[in-house]
Amino acid sequence: MKKIGLIALTTLFPLSLMAQEPSAQEARGLAKTFVEKLQPELKAGMKNGGPVNAIGVCHSKAPQIAHDLAKSSGWNVNRVSLKPRGASATPDSWETAVMEKFNAQLASGIDVKTIEFSEIVSHNGQQEFRYMKAIPTGEVCLKCHGTDVAAPVKEAIAKFYPQDQATGYQMGQIRGAFSFSKAM
Ligand code: HEC
Repeated sequence: MKKIGLIALTTLFPLSLMAQEPSAQEARGLAKTFVEKLQPELKAGMKNGGPVNAIGVCHSKAPQIAHDLAKSSGWNVNRVSLKPRGASATPDSWETAVMEKFNAQLASGIDVKTIEFSEIVSHNGQQEFRYMKAIPTGEVCLKCHGTDVAAPVKEAIAKFYPQDQATGYQMGQIRGAFSFSKAM
């Protein structure tokens, strides 16, 4: 009886999934989901009142999406930047080094869509799988992250983020990165 139970279980859930080792592939999926959840919110926010309105949307939705994804996946889910805007976007030293490497990779001609990095690190005596993926600056991003942000948009940003550093970007530059981690 016990044996049959185990066979049924391994048929339903392959051993690789049962072990639940975090992987870059799983992290890549999380990044994709993050984009798929945030992009429509941003688009709708822009449509319903332009970038000034959409800042409020990003301010409330982006952290909410990160929180929900973390809860459903068991990963720590964040976005960071060398020039942060959001409250949790300030990188630690590992993240800073990885993003500096990403910028060098972009400069050497590597396609930004493929720029990612993962590593197993030791954190407080615990093995942790860490993953980062570059987030490129696209055209629509320039309204709130570009070199020529309109005055009312600047004001709205300053209201929520008095310490904002996340402007001055050009299209194609790396705006920041997804940063995910999970205990092994
Ligand atoms: C309507 C203005 C607006 C637009 C357009 C916009 N952003 Fe942002 N962005 C924000 C705000 C506001 C935050 C801070 C969100 C928070 O509080 O977590 C942010 C945060 C980020 C972060 C997290 C790191 C950080 O510095 O806080 C990344 C990465 C990012 N944006 C990338 C992009 C990209 C890529 C695009 C284009 C596809 C884009 N943004 C378009 C307003 C905008």
